Amino acid sequence: MSSPEPGPSIPQDHPRTWWQRPGLEPREGHLLVAGRGAEALARAHGTPLFVYDLTNVEENVRALQAAMARTGAPWKVRWALKAQREPEVLARVHAIGAPGTPEFVGLDVCSPGEVAHGLARGFPATEISYTGTNVSDRDLDVILESGAHLNVDLISQLQRYGRRNRGGTLGIRVNPRVSAARPESGISYYSGERPTKFGIYPERLDEALAVARSCDLTIDTVHFHVGHHLLTDDLPAFDRAVAAAAAMARRVIDAGCPVVEVNAGGGLAAIMQQGQEPLDLDAYAGVLAKHLGPLDVTIACEPGEMFAKNAGVLLAEVVTVEDRSRAGDGSAVFAGLTCGWNVMHLAFVYHEFVETVLCRAADAPRTAAYTLAGHINEGPDLFAEDYPLPPLAEGDVVAILGVGAYCQANWHPHCLRPFPGVVWCEDRLAT
Ligand SMILES: Cc1ncc(COP(=O)(O)O)c(C=O)c1O
Repeated sequence: MSSPEPGPSIPQDHPRTWWQRPGLEPREGHLLVAGRGAEALARAHGTPLFVYDLTNVEENVRALQAAMARTGAPWKVRWALKAQREPEVLARVHAIGAPGTPEFVGLDVCSPGEVAHGLARGFPATEISYTGTNVSDRDLDVILESGAHLNVDLISQLQRYGRRNRGGTLGIRVNPRVSAARPESGISYYSGERPTKFGIYPERLDEALAVARSCDLTIDTVHFHVGHHLLTDDLPAFDRAVAAAAAMARRVIDAGCPVVEVNAGGGLAAIMQQGQEPLDLDAYAGVLAKHLGPLDVTIACEPGEMFAKNAGVLLAEVVTVEDRSRAGDGSAVFAGLTCGWNVMHLAFVYHEFVETVLCRAADAPRTAAYTLAGHINEGPDLFAEDYPLPPLAEGDVVAILGVGAYCQANWHPHCLRPFPGVVWCEDRLAT
């Protein structure tokens, strides 16, 4: 698996410190996470070790809330539980506002298990929004019993719901068939020309409304999720997708449905590599307000990645450094780590670029290049190839960045590797 980083695959001699922010910074070369030395944490707790800066999580949530509030439209921000569900994070998020107020961060969930998890963590059912896919009768029974709000995403799901709960109130997920991804990114898992498994298409919206009528269903929410890794450069495409989704919501309202919320899903990016600019949250919220404000509804969104991704790092020890090129010319130097794709699958499954930092020389020039390999017994268990780093030695500690979302949540005990340690930094120590 090669790292999809743009540019020539040769060692780079610049320090590459795009990731620096309060709570993640080098001090005299050594990486600090929330004011704590990364190497000391690794030695004290062992590796692999997740380290989270919970202050960063809260900052990210509050930044988006503030941008939504500045639009002047009614708003609601929820937390995509699939991205990160650990109790420590949820407690921090739960404390941000009082239930029932816009500031309270509700949950976006997508399985009965997530409903139960949210309720158990003190999130009232009225603050839980379920937008799942391929919902079964058994799923429906749990969701209906819980009192969580449900958005269904196919006409067949609407029929299934109608059979199970005639006269009920729910939302529908629509798919405007317009991609919010830049053409060159080629990502349209959710919405675009190619059919996806999500959402009711514009040409079948009238049919969906007729099904709802035939089962006496009340549609109170329109949901769409059209983006993935949205950065500021993607906003023109996002604008077109939101305009198309808003037109669908308008049709639902004009058909007489008492729509109180339009939910724009998630898909906001956290920056992942040098040269990227963070998503302009005011511009993002502005796109939503421009198209959804005239509908006179609450405008909701439910990010996962943008809130949590850059709040977590994964520390691993370098246990192997070996030149494995035939000519011994250093063209294939492997650095073996004490972690694998079972705890950090973003490169393995999604082919995402993953930034790694040498903790004792976090801002040093990257004058060597490595294949970063995991300790799972599978050939593709690689984090990157030809990846520039300062020269490594056995015993070094590296930090894999951007693991706060979708990593711990998807951990599995492959090869019976145990669950990694976790350090939750509630505060930032002064440095
Ligand atoms: C319906 C829905 N909402 C929210 C999210 C969260 O997305 P992200 O983590 O990209 O913000 C997803 C992700 O797949 C989703 O499908």
